[in-house]
Amino acid sequence: MGKGFYIGKAVGIVGIILCAGALATIIALSVVYSQEKTKSNNQVSPTAGGTTANPPVTPSPSNEPWDKYRLPKTLVPDHYNVTLWPRLTLNTTTGLYIFTGESSVEFKCAEETDLILIHSNKLNYTKLENDHLARLTSVNSGDKAPSIKYSWLQGVTQYLVLQLNGKLVKDHRYHLDTEFTGELADDLGGFYRSEYQEDGITKVVATTQMQPTDARKAFPCFDEPAMKAIFYITLIHNHGTVALSNGEVKESSNVTIEGHNVQKTTFEPTEKMSTYLLAFIVSDFAFINNTIDGVLIRIFAKKSAIAAGQGEYALNKTGPILKFFERYYNSRYPLPKSDQIALPDFNAGAMENWGLITYRETALLYDEKFSSNSNKQRIATIIAHELAHMWFGNLVTVKWWNDLWLNEGFASYVEYLGAHEAEPDWNVKDLIVLSDVHRVFAVDALASSHPLSSREEDIQKPAQISELFDAISYSKGASVLRMLSDFLTEEAFTEGLQTYLKRFAFGNAVYTDLWDHLQMAVIAHGINLPDTVKNIMNTWVLQMGFPVVTINTTTGVVSQEHFLLDPDSEVTAVSPFNYEWIVPIKWMKTGFIQEPQWLRSKSATIIEMKAPLTDWVLANLDVVGYYRVNYDQGNWNRLVDHLKNNHKLIPVINRAQLVDDAFNLARAKIIPTELALDTTKYLNQERDYMPWESALSNLDFFYLMFDRSEVYGPMQNYLRNQVTPLFDYYKNMTDDWSKVPDGHMDQYNQVNAISMACRTDLEECLLLSKTWFNQWRTTSENKIHPNLRSTVYCNAIAAGGAQEWEFAWTEFQNTTIAIEADKLRFSLACTKQPWLLNRYLEYTLIPGMIRKQDATSTIVYIANNVVGQSLAWDFVRARWSYIFTEYGGGSFSFSNLINGVTQRFSTEFELQQLEKFKAENSEIGFGSGTLAVDQSIERTISNIKWLTENKENVLNWFNTAL
Ligand SMILES: *[C@@H]1O[C@H](CO)[C@@H](O)[C@H](O)[C@H]1NC(C)=O
Ligand SMILES: *[C@@H]1O[C@H](CO)[C@@H](O)[C@H](O)[C@H]1NC(C)=O
Ligand SMILES: *[C@@H]1O[C@H](CO)[C@@H](O)[C@H](O)[C@H]1NC(C)=O
Ligand SMILES: *[C@@H]1O[C@H](CO)[C@@H](O)[C@H](O)[C@H]1NC(C)=O
Ligand SMILES: [Zn+2]
Repeated sequence: MGKGFYIGKAVGIVGIILCAGALATIIALSVVYSQEKTKSNNQVSPTAGGTTANPPVTPSPSNEPWDKYRLPKTLVPDHYNVTLWPRLTLNTTTGLYIFTGESSVEFKCAEETDLILIHSNKLNYTKLENDHLARLTSVNSGDKAPSIKYSWLQGVTQYLVLQLNGKLVKDHRYHLDTEFTGELADDLGGFYRSEYQEDGITKVVATTQMQPTDARKAFPCFDEPAMKAIFYITLIHNHGTVALSNGEVKESSNVTIEGHNVQKTTFEPTEKMSTYLLAFIVSDFAFINNTIDGVLIRIFAKKSAIAAGQGEYALNKTGPILKFFERYYNSRYPLPKSDQIALPDFNAGAMENWGLITYRETALLYDEKFSSNSNKQRIATIIAHELAHMWFGNLVTVKWWNDLWLNEGFASYVEYLGAHEAEPDWNVKDLIVLSDVHRVFAVDALASSHPLSSREEDIQKPAQISELFDAISYSKGASVLRMLSDFLTEEAFTEGLQTYLKRFAFGNAVYTDLWDHLQMAVIAHGINLPDTVKNIMNTWVLQMGFPVVTINTTTGVVSQEHFLLDPDSEVTAVSPFNYEWIVPIKWMKTGFIQEPQWLRSKSATIIEMKAPLTDWVLANLDVVGYYRVNYDQGNWNRLVDHLKNNHKLIPVINRAQLVDDAFNLARAKIIPTELALDTTKYLNQERDYMPWESALSNLDFFYLMFDRSEVYGPMQNYLRNQVTPLFDYYKNMTDDWSKVPDGHMDQYNQVNAISMACRTDLEECLLLSKTWFNQWRTTSENKIHPNLRSTVYCNAIAAGGAQEWEFAWTEFQNTTIAIEADKLRFSLACTKQPWLLNRYLEYTLIPGMIRKQDATSTIVYIANNVVGQSLAWDFVRARWSYIFTEYGGGSFSFSNLINGVTQRFSTEFELQQLEKFKAENSEIGFGSGTLAVDQSIERTISNIKWLTENKENVLNWFNTAL
């Protein structure tokens, strides 16, 4: 899945320092299952849809096979024959949108058994023969299937259970037929509906999101990734609508069913694949297409968007990216077509359904008039991410969800390679350092972090699976794979990858299978490593966190230590490696690249020094290694001096690193906070994007801690002084803001210049924003360049009152362009008027005002505003049980929400409130946000300490810095 709620990614709504840290913890989707509610009721229950003959009464809590979340290994599916009929109109009698379906699965019995367990969730079954919920027949001629004794639905573990009167025979094949009805709800999970307005009417789309465990909400299936099968899909739909699925259309005919004249579209059978990659969509969308080397590529979206040409960019880039991955994997794209579709309601960013990739509109549709360069980059990278999965994930699939990090980490790494292919002038590959490495360092430096790899037995329930879709899996996964690719060399890495894909095609693998294939490539290429791929990578995969490597330039001794943001926090998790890593060290001395080294122990003398020492040492070149670097004070001083005198001699990525490492080492009390602040002194000469972005996201923490205190004034003065030259630089470059900078990074940094200048109250900037916004408001013609819209809207609304807010709200409601709506929705949270913020908070839980998919991020935007912080926290606390129950299934990202509304917490009082919140809601629970609650508590404790220790000296520093 694409990183869902990922707009904060430096490139999302760019340069908005207000929100930079807020979305630090990403959970792409957060399905919180309603079963949580019924957990206490663990008994075999006669469920909706009708239990027929009563199942055996079992003692509670029981340990029957149907109480376990994992399927037994007795049955193996071969193929399914599924027909689904979504109804896109409301049944006014029942008040429901529904779909009906028939399914037949052929499976093989692998071990003799008298029990059939197949996943099923929220489906109502039609009673078939003898009043049972399914019909069982034998495929083997002359064989008779045993009759069904009991059949019932097991709500908690989401099974349809059939207890048989006799045993299924090993190696024999059977058919299981069912007929069922489900709700086509607006819950963004399974088979669901999305609504939008076009030509003044409300239109309904039926679509799916199966990953990780919602295919069972569309039809009964063996819903585990290793249970691969072939799917014969048929969709029933109205004339004038388009039906899509993973395969190509085989035939479409007019039929009359139950008196309805409808269309019946049958699809070619799929390849052997996992259930979570299925997709079924009925809409009245339009498309554009082309063909590349025999592969049909189509972009689908609502008619108005296609007519406006918003699919063109995606269409133009898909072919080249697909070809790139064919070369990269040395493997043909395995399907005849690649459809990509933009949906008005979609929880994650995108989903890699095999042959039919689904996206949020903002992740696929590009319009020059509305989209910023960061919107464009997001489209290129998400397309690359999803296309990368067509092989890595879809062709070869992880055996179980505990290896999710390999799937998502890999796609999150190579998405940069694919995007670079699409836009070679952007230098997009560098940005992984800001968007993934630095971003995940923040989470992985907590004692409550977790290793990349989980044990299979620890990941059982759907909520546990959902919780894995986090920053660790995506961004740390991407970071360590990038490091691996670097020390293996690209040639060996891709060769190992290619043989791995070949070996496991159409099957499943575990992550050590990849290590084995990489090891073969290492041997074939004669690459010299200090240990095996597996042993090196185990230190990064099996223990949480990462090291800080300290280089003492006076002795040449290099040592490592587990980096903890709060040095006093207690690490309870035991590591098999004692928190030591096998660390590749690339370094330079005074601008000259040196022989790379490995650090294989706690400390070693591996850096060769010459006395007397005037040289400076810089390690972790281009931040390819997943670690932070510290130096002796003398070397730090020389680096800071060098930044001031000749910063260009230090590679741009490492300038960003020096700032980020210094600020974080200071937070961990490894170096003084003053030294971290010293790394910002050269910024008045810095024009490059990456160092600025790095500084701004670190200063964001200072804003969070100090924007309610007396440090705020002096800090503002200092930062205004630092950013003014950058502001003037872009003013000149753009001829007084009349042109767009040529470079991609310059476009980003222009936004930083404006947002920071306005944030520090630079008069000229505030005036500029107000003038542009008011021109739009009074003339109805919006001349603000899309790159600048988020920041300009935000500044103008912050400076304005109800009039500005209402104008933006009206524009938000009227725009049909999702990307413009996103910019407005973000900016509406910038107002300084508490009553407007409170009203806006209320809107977030009314789906007619704010789409469910956007509720979490909107609340978090409001919490980022210093005025909105406490309002948002009060709001979430007061509504928790409502939010949790009403927004349960798949529509709410609880982890983001909790981290977002508590990120400013830095007082004892706030800590108490947080602990009270945890205690009071322990009954209801926190679903996918469970870990986030503990992380928030840990973060608050560390903030309290940091403030006590640093307020005085930070105030002094700012007072004397100018
Ligand atoms: C699927 O089911 C339909 C009728 O329900 C039947 O005509 C068709 O032959 C079946 N296909 C397969 C592959 O089993
Ligand atoms: C609405 O639902 C009821 C109850 O299931 C059913 O009898 C009726 O036919 C449905 N109406 C339409 C228009 O489908
Ligand atoms: C399924 O059955 C339950 C209980 O009778 C009912 O409340 C629910 O609306 C039904 N769902 C559908 C989609 O018909
Ligand atoms: C199917 O039915 C629709 C609507 O009644 C009609 O417009 C169309 O021509 C029919 N197609 C065929 C192949 O009969
Ligand atoms: Zn993904």
